[in-house]
Amino acid sequence: MRVLVLGSGAREHAIAWKFSKSNRLTGLYAAPGNAGTAEIGENLEHVNPDKSSDVIAACKEYQIDYVFVGPEAPLAAGVIDDLRKEGIACFGPHKAAAQLEASKVFSKQFMVRNGIPTASSEEFSSFKAFKNYIKDSEGKLVIKKSGLAAGKGVFESDDKNALISFGKDVLKNDKLLVEEFLTGYEISIFTLSDGENYVMLPPCADFKKAGEGDSGLNTGGMGSICPVPIAGQALIEQIRKEVIEPTYAGMAKEGLSYKGILYFGLMITDKGPMLLEYNARFGDPETQALIPLINCDFANLMQAIEMGTLNDFEVNIHPWFSLGVVVAANGYPGKYKKGSEVEQLPKDLDRKRATFHASTVLDKESVVRTGGGRCFTVVGLGDSLIEASHAAYEGVKEVQFEGGWYRKDIGKKFIIED
Ligand code: AMP
Ligand code: GLY
Repeated sequence: MRVLVLGSGAREHAIAWKFSKSNRLTGLYAAPGNAGTAEIGENLEHVNPDKSSDVIAACKEYQIDYVFVGPEAPLAAGVIDDLRKEGIACFGPHKAAAQLEASKVFSKQFMVRNGIPTASSEEFSSFKAFKNYIKDSEGKLVIKKSGLAAGKGVFESDDKNALISFGKDVLKNDKLLVEEFLTGYEISIFTLSDGENYVMLPPCADFKKAGEGDSGLNTGGMGSICPVPIAGQALIEQIRKEVIEPTYAGMAKEGLSYKGILYFGLMITDKGPMLLEYNARFGDPETQALIPLINCDFANLMQAIEMGTLNDFEVNIHPWFSLGVVVAANGYPGKYKKGSEVEQLPKDLDRKRATFHASTVLDKESVVRTGGGRCFTVVGLGDSLIEASHAAYEGVKEVQFEGGWYRKDIGKKFIIED
C-alpha cells in the first residue's frame, strides 16, 4: 500500500509512524509533512493539502493507493469527495458529513433532532437579538462561533460586556450559538467507522490550558492521556448508549455515514455525559497518546474501513497507559518564535517512548528547526499512568531548543497515588 498522509502536525507524524510499521506499506508520503515525517517517508512540500487538484495530481505522480486526511480544513474543502470521484481510497468524511465539525449550528441541530444529550443553546445571526438575549441572561455562558476557528471560536464568561463584544466580532461574518455553561470533566472518545459499523477506541483526555492546574490561556492542547482511569466501563457503556448509538443511527438516517473517524468531545456532568462537539478527524494531541496503544497493523485496519469489513476486524489495544507532553515555543500561545534550532531530541524506546514533531522543518544543512507554536509531543508508555508520566517527562527533559517550555502536570489530576 502506498500511503499519503495530509497535514504537518504531531498527530500526522503519529499516524505516519504507525503506517510505517505496517508490513503492507510500500511507500509513505506526507503533504506537507514535517521533519519527523521526513525521517520515515518523503515529504511533498509543494502539495497544498486543502487543494483537491494538488492532492489528486500527487496521487497520480506517486501512485498513491490511500490518502489519510489528518486535519479538518481539507475535509471541509471537500477533498474526500474529489478523491472518491477519482476512485482513490481515502479516510475521512465527505463534505456534507464534515459539517458535523465544520458548522456548530448544523451539529447542534443534529444533536437536538436525534435526542443526544447536549448543553441547551440558542442560535443567532442578528446582533440585536443576540445582544438582547445576553442582557436578559444570568450567570456564566458559552459563545461558539459556528464555523471552523482553529480552537479560537469558543468564549466562556459571566461578563455580559465581554460576551457581547466577542459575539459582535463573530456575527460580522458568521452565526453563533449561546450555550449553557456545563461543569464536570472532559473526555474525548474516538470511533472508527466503515460507513455501517463502528468501533470505539479507548477514552482520551487532553489538557487545553497553557498553565499548570488548568489555568491560563487556551491552547491547541498541551498534553493528553489515554485511557482515562476514571472513565470506567459503566460510563463508557452509558456514553455508547446515550450518545454514540443515536449519533450513528442519525447519520445513517440522514445520509451522513462515511469511512473515517468521528470524535466525540464530552463533558461528564453530574447529570451524565453531555456532548460538547463532534470532530470528523482525530484529535490533537490525543492521537499522539492513543496511536502507540493500537496493537494491529494500521494499513490492515484502514483497509477494513475502506472495504466495509470493520465488523470482522479485531482492533487490539495494548493494556498500557499512555501520556503525551507537548513542548511549545517560547511565547506560545501568544506570539512565538519560529525557526529555532533543535539541538537535541530524545531517542524513541520501543514500548516506552516516542517523540512526534509538529510543523518542524529540516533546513539546508539538515538541522531540525521549529516551525509552529506547539513543536513536539513526547509520549511515554507504561503499565500505569504514573509510569507513563515518568517515561514521558524523562524524554521531555531531553528536548532542547531555545525557549522551549511544557506543562509539568499533564495527567496529574488523573493519577491516583498510594
Ligand atoms: P468545543 O469546540 O465546542 O469543543 O469547545 C471547546 C472547549 O470549550 C471545550 O473543550 C470545553 O472546554 C469548552 N466548552 C465548550 N462548550 C462548553 C459548555 N457548554 N460548557 C462548558 N465548557 C464548554
Ligand atoms: N484536542 C482537541 C482537538 O483536536 O480538537
